[in-house]
Amino acid sequence: MDSKVFVNEQIEEIRKTVGKGIAINALSGGVDSSVVTLLGHRALGAQMKTFFVDNALMRAGEPQRIVQLFASLGIPVQNVNARQEFLAALKGISDPEKKRQAITDTFYAKVFVRLVRETKAHFLMHGTILTDIEETVAGIKRQHNILSQIGIKPEEAYGYAVLEPLKTLRKDGVRAVAAELGLPSEIARRMPFPGPALAARIVGDVTEEKLDLVRRATAIVEEELADCGAFQYLAVLLNDYATGIRNNKREFGRIIVVRCIESTDARTATVTRLPWEKLEKICRRITDIPGVNRCLYDLTPKPPATVEYV
Ligand code: XMP
Repeated sequence: MDSKVFVNEQIEEIRKTVGKGIAINALSGGVDSSVVTLLGHRALGAQMKTFFVDNALMRAGEPQRIVQLFASLGIPVQNVNARQEFLAALKGISDPEKKRQAITDTFYAKVFVRLVRETKAHFLMHGTILTDIEETVAGIKRQHNILSQIGIKPEEAYGYAVLEPLKTLRKDGVRAVAAELGLPSEIARRMPFPGPALAARIVGDVTEEKLDLVRRATAIVEEELADCGAFQYLAVLLNDYATGIRNNKREFGRIIVVRCIESTDARTATVTRLPWEKLEKICRRITDIPGVNRCLYDLTPKPPATVEYV
């Protein structure tokens, strides 16, 4: 694929399809939705509206960082505060699939419907890539960004059509297009992050207190491992407590798991052999988080484990 040709063809196609209408998209800051945002704005200018949906499940500082970064590229992104809607939808749900479903439903059936109505959009632009479609068809993954899978026929249900300009590309192709479009390497080379965000890294029900813990642990892991070259690294909060000692007192504390993997496409993965000193430093910093008294390193490859815990 020639990235330049691809970009020109897609811009042409988007213009033809949308005509004088309005298109919207949700930007998460991942490479796929970032490329869709750029293509859409190049093609449509002010007819393209981009939203960052703050679902309360993002990493520290993420909403602000992404909005600012796109502002510096001349693309206005509107931050939508949907925190309470997502937290309410997730309340008390522990089952992994039900958690994912609650997030998907809140996103499409509540927040997106509202945005479509408010903007009078007839087109929704999605960052679905070829691998998403393949894995969904093969039943490997219930991809959160494929509407038909959740029984939504968008045109019938909401009166909008879905455009998927990246559906012929794999991740390496998307990264090449990102570079062609001039996206900073911070975005073009970004490590994968799951659609359900930090909710995929909390075993059991999701609460603001647990989100705060896993968010703090994630920031530590991402900072410490930024230069390690691994495919993906993350922190997970378990749904259990362990006995520990702090200030000469017994405490029943939280348990954080650190995971760091090598992979090419996330279908299989091996564990990174991180230096012991690095692991000890991460452990020290994570157990400094109040309420956390154990930090574990996950040695399990994929399979049998998956990358995320939910
Ligand atoms: P698993 O946990 O299935 O993850 O081994 C494989 C890769 O996919 C990412 N992941 C997701 N990405 N939406 C996404 O866009 C999702 O729902 C989702 N779930 C997992 C995960 O981070 C890993 O890179």
